[in-house]
Amino acid sequence: MKTASSVPKIGVLICTCGGQIAEKIDTGYLSQKAQELAGVAVVFTTDRLCSAQGMAQAKEACRGCERLLFAGCSERSSLTFNEDRIAAWLKEMGLDRAMFEVANIREQCVWIHDGNLTLKALDMLRMAHAKLLTNLPVPPPVKLAPKGLVIGGGPAGMQAAYDLALAGTRVVLVEKKAYLGGHFCQIPYLAQSESWPAMCVSDCVAPVQGRKVVFHPNITLLTASEVEEIIPENGNFRVRIKKGAAFVDPERCVACGKCAAVCPVEVDNSYEYGLKKRKAIDKEYRLAIPDTYTLLPDACTGCGECLKVCPTGAINLGAAPEIIEDTFGAVILATGFKSYDLSALTHLNYGSPNVLSSMEMERLIAARLSRPGGPPERIVFMLCGASRIKNKEIQVGVPYCSRNCCSFAVKQANRVLAMRPDVEVTMIYFGDIRTYGRAFEQFYNEAQDSVEFINGEVVRVTESEAGLKIELVSPNGETQELEADLLVLAEALLPEGNELINKLKLKTDRYSYPLEIQPRLLRPTESYIDRVYVAGAVVGPKLVQESVEQGSAAAFKALGYLARGEKELPKFISEVNAAACSRCRICEAVCPHGAIKVTDNGAAVDPAFCQGCGLCASVCPSGAIRLRNFADEQILRQVEVAFGSVPDGDPKILGLLCYWCSYASADLMGVYGHKIPHQNFRSIRIRCSSSVSAGLLLEIYRRGVDGIIIAGCPPKNCHHGAGNYMTAKRVALLSAVMRQMGFEGRLKWEYIGVPMWRELAKAIAEMDKSLRKLGPVSLGRAL
Ligand code: FES
Repeated sequence: MKTASSVPKIGVLICTCGGQIAEKIDTGYLSQKAQELAGVAVVFTTDRLCSAQGMAQAKEACRGCERLLFAGCSERSSLTFNEDRIAAWLKEMGLDRAMFEVANIREQCVWIHDGNLTLKALDMLRMAHAKLLTNLPVPPPVKLAPKGLVIGGGPAGMQAAYDLALAGTRVVLVEKKAYLGGHFCQIPYLAQSESWPAMCVSDCVAPVQGRKVVFHPNITLLTASEVEEIIPENGNFRVRIKKGAAFVDPERCVACGKCAAVCPVEVDNSYEYGLKKRKAIDKEYRLAIPDTYTLLPDACTGCGECLKVCPTGAINLGAAPEIIEDTFGAVILATGFKSYDLSALTHLNYGSPNVLSSMEMERLIAARLSRPGGPPERIVFMLCGASRIKNKEIQVGVPYCSRNCCSFAVKQANRVLAMRPDVEVTMIYFGDIRTYGRAFEQFYNEAQDSVEFINGEVVRVTESEAGLKIELVSPNGETQELEADLLVLAEALLPEGNELINKLKLKTDRYSYPLEIQPRLLRPTESYIDRVYVAGAVVGPKLVQESVEQGSAAAFKALGYLARGEKELPKFISEVNAAACSRCRICEAVCPHGAIKVTDNGAAVDPAFCQGCGLCASVCPSGAIRLRNFADEQILRQVEVAFGSVPDGDPKILGLLCYWCSYASADLMGVYGHKIPHQNFRSIRIRCSSSVSAGLLLEIYRRGVDGIIIAGCPPKNCHHGAGNYMTAKRVALLSAVMRQMGFEGRLKWEYIGVPMWRELAKAIAEMDKSLRKLGPVSLGRAL
């Protein structure tokens, strides 16, 4: 706490908003009272602060001020003077972002009440002043390693690495397989986009994309490598990578194939899903990039035949994996997808060589349907293989639609018929076909003439010498049998890289797909962990084009940090008093952003990862954590001056409104002209609703507030994961305790999204009504 002599020099800016505010507030009186507040050196009144002229004049008037207090519109909802614009303006003035507070006397005062509001405005000015006085400066920026890590060498990862490299950033790209491209290069015909009904062939585009990556000087490519450890530390990511053993030196290998020709060991080729074989030393496929032969150590017998024939001496059978440790400023997770394991659906006879997944079918199409025993003459495709299972009797699989499977199956059917028009093709769909987008709809329409579509559910697949027998039940209960040489199951897709997702502690949905942070529609590819981006099919099934888009988007976002080599910290950061920490680890468990670690020395917050939600502070049983610039003491100081003008007999109602949704909703009450009859409601814009502890709530009552409404984001929309649910539970518990103490009806929890201002207004009206019956709070005496 500063002494009187160290009170900072404050400039007060009062905006009349072109007369709107001055109509109901005596701004002259407000200005006069503002001058009496501690530290106030300048009071400047303007008609329109948000105009270029207003801002220039205010800047001049407040020259030399260390902090600014603004009375006018809402920094959350104003369409002309919002947080981002204010932050830029403060920067221009050389002022710290935390040295600014707003008394929102337009949206939440002038616009929501009739009558003279001068005294309520003065209360609000005092509240903002109380907080401003105790704000702390934003800590200095954190240095970041100017290097990005991209995990996954599929289309999203390659694009992300390439875009970062093009922008001059150094990148390490780690790919688990020996070659780049992932599934991208296993699918011979790739749908171009949802708007254009044409194909690209992977034999063309995969090497085009791969070569860009392999030869870019800013990219270090590590194939056959895995990220073993990834730890957020000191604002960066400390990473341990296991680089696969270099049995074949890529600098020397000329990909002549002599080694494979003499290698006596044959194993299933995973690139071909086992439909073809490869040698223990071989290339997965001719166009694989890097253009180097690879050796499978588990299959190699060490016979040395390859050594004898290699013309460049590129082979080293004694090579060992290498551990690389490095630090990165940003991480892009682009590990792609994996197919659902269809063997779990035992009734579909997936173990048979005549029952394939759709990814296996891609390889059969690549082989022009050539297979032992001749090409199939009757092919049945079954859609929703392990997808949308919840409506089926067989409780294996996933309940969601994998989005691309119908389209891919139709595409495959068309490719089959283009190669062999005589093949009989049938497609069994489950209820409906979801060929989304214009291109896929066209593929579907084209298939109508030559493919028989049947609506039904496959209940059993058996096999005899005559071929496959597929039993299905139609929606009206009729049974039917089909005969086929080949059954293709359009399998559900799942995220690949779960181990990494867990290592990074990314929040996921119930199917283990990593979640983007709220508001998701404005922050695609951003995970809950700062500077960890998720791109491509790891977030959900996608077309190649969509994955490439996401790779670029993630790279662009990462670049913002990597190019600067530092991260500016937010003004709200949790801080730990290590001496008071009991090392219970609750904070570590609830932090949705992976910013807290508890060691023997107590909890420590990494400020570069903290997003200032306050969840940790509110759950800390030792009171060891405080939220910088949103500490409990600051809230209490505001409470103490909030209701000076509320007449005796009127209940004092405080809204603790979540930073993102509910505070904006309170603003919209004003924007849409809703009027609150009494001037006894005050709001404080808190961080996540769950940043408020039960202890703080009780203290607020003790200081004379009669009723509290806590409001947070609607279900599934908390910007910090499950903060709103935590608050709902906390309020329920506290309400039960208060009921026992005889303080019923003074605490309300509401899920209030931005447009739910009517619900908020109703909650305030109900609280007012109930408090008028209950009378003033007397909790202070009880405690
Ligand atoms: Fe709104 Fe959590 S951010 S309730």
